[in-house]
Amino acid sequence: MAAEKTFYLETFGCQMNVVDSERIVDSLKQIGYRQVSLVEDAGLILLNTCSVRDKAERKVYGHLGSFKPLKADNPALIIGVGGCVAQQEGERLLEKLPFLDLVFGTHNVHKLPEMVQAVEKNRVRCLETDFLDRETRLALFPRRTEGDMVSRFVTVMQGCDNFCSYCVVPHVRGREISRPSAEILAEIEELSAGGVREVTLIGQNVNSYGARIEGELSFAALLAAVQAIDGIERIRFTTSHPRDLSGELIAAFATLDKLCLHIHLPVQCGSDRVLKLMNRGYTRAGYLDRVRRLKEVAPEIRLTSDIIVGFPGETEEDFAATLDLVAEVRYADVFTFLYSPRPGTAAAELSDDLPAAVRQERFDRLLALQESIGRQVWAADVGAVLPVLVEGESRQGEGQIFGRTTWNRIVNFPGSPELIGRTVPVRILRSNKNTQLGEIVI
Ligand code: 5AD
Ligand code: SF4
Repeated sequence: MAAEKTFYLETFGCQMNVVDSERIVDSLKQIGYRQVSLVEDAGLILLNTCSVRDKAERKVYGHLGSFKPLKADNPALIIGVGGCVAQQEGERLLEKLPFLDLVFGTHNVHKLPEMVQAVEKNRVRCLETDFLDRETRLALFPRRTEGDMVSRFVTVMQGCDNFCSYCVVPHVRGREISRPSAEILAEIEELSAGGVREVTLIGQNVNSYGARIEGELSFAALLAAVQAIDGIERIRFTTSHPRDLSGELIAAFATLDKLCLHIHLPVQCGSDRVLKLMNRGYTRAGYLDRVRRLKEVAPEIRLTSDIIVGFPGETEEDFAATLDLVAEVRYADVFTFLYSPRPGTAAAELSDDLPAAVRQERFDRLLALQESIGRQVWAADVGAVLPVLVEGESRQGEGQIFGRTTWNRIVNFPGSPELIGRTVPVRILRSNKNTQLGEIVI
């Protein structure tokens, strides 16, 4: 009997990679592989990687290095890298890591089974990092309708044309393309028929969905069409570029009752001078005006954001403007990042003499401010009874289930797995740093 084929897959980075990993799992199963959760049990080890920040990239090299001894013990082991680091580094990965067998870029996930089989058969080393043309990309758009999950990501667009000066995404994911709305809606209908109750429409900048296609729905119109699909109870989307947040989309928070009251609207910085250097295409006042209009149409809405600290040449005054904006918006959550230069980006060419200690000190100040605001925002829920869509059994232990509130916060509470897929009223008893504890109200 032939030995069983097993693979271990680890995913880093954004939702795009999560969706690509789902496709990797499916396609490897089709060629007879079974997924395992321990790297030691695997005959094939894959990392789906992220290169958006230097730290993410370094992690990949460190991680791959740790597989080297496994290969020494088992020469038949196959080791591969996909995602943004694979796209960016390509051949260099194979040169630097002699034990690595295959490298597949962001447009080449569909080639993986073929590559794995080529390594199995001939022990060749494979590299596929070509960008594909529009038609081929559209035909290969990730879609998935099987599975028994309550909440799913649906990819509506891929790539990014914004070229924010610090960002590697347009370089490693390629140009922006939107998927035809008819296909998106058909997928969501199928998902709904299979028991999915919540969809999150994803793309690097969903707000520019359809903008370049004659006759295509706007993103707000796409959301309205999803709202009309029976069985779907909740709609979310991510990520939004503030510049492209239209009045029509803002209004959707009032008119579409399935649209959850949360928007991730990365501001990156509160200083006009730095926003310009970042090539973000909006001003502080323009951003704050959008926030005001969002809160006007949907007073309960909660915002989250991404902020980069220590962009080249950031002054104390620039940074103070960021702190001030954070205090004004009162975000529910902020993902704070230390700036790191990325290969091939415009910002990497800027002179940068900000001492690391100054960057770190600013980072810590921002974190402390946001922690105190976030604590207050989430503490306000204690005592409230909120609708929670139950997603699964909780990692908190036996008899515990979990779901999310409209604000995308996970709530753990005692309950039967039979409730999975249902929306139940839950009284919030405690707000921890990232999750809440509650009890069902009968
Ligand atoms: N350095 C630091 N943070 C970055 N991000 C993107 N590129 C960089 C970089 N070079 C952050 C942005 C973006 C998030 C996904 O990662 O805040 O919104
Ligand atoms: Fe990067 Fe800007 Fe595109 Fe977001 S919008 S992926 S930050 S280039």
